[in-house]
Amino acid sequence: MDSGGTGIGVNLPAGVTANGATTQISLATQVGLATTGAYLIIPNASRSLIVINLGGNTFRALSAVCTHQGCLIAGIANANIECNCHGSRFTTAGAVVNGPASSPLAQFVAVHDAVANTVTVSA
Ligand code: FES
Repeated sequence: MDSGGTGIGVNLPAGVTANGATTQISLATQVGLATTGAYLIIPNASRSLIVINLGGNTFRALSAVCTHQGCLIAGIANANIECNCHGSRFTTAGAVVNGPASSPLAQFVAVHDAVANTVTVSA
């Protein structure tokens, strides 16, 4: 079922809503993401994201679409974001560590709201 907006709600994790270019994550639901170093991959029809907790209530949101041939990145291992399709790796800031990808992962604005206990990602 569509969760609303243009995000189409494709496999959205619990506590995540998408509306066009804006994605909101409830940290009350995604409690694991509240831990420093944790990350959440959000597959979405309009924008797939990986959101990383950098500590100090600071979050980073990057595209989770590999810049090589568009696979969804697999996760973070050994401090690098990894794509399992052909082995590209990126830093957690999105820079290429090794190819075949040659372009960095796009970064988006991620804002933590302590009162609402959410992280909102926007263009
Ligand atoms: S699509 Fe990611 S390495 Fe090829």
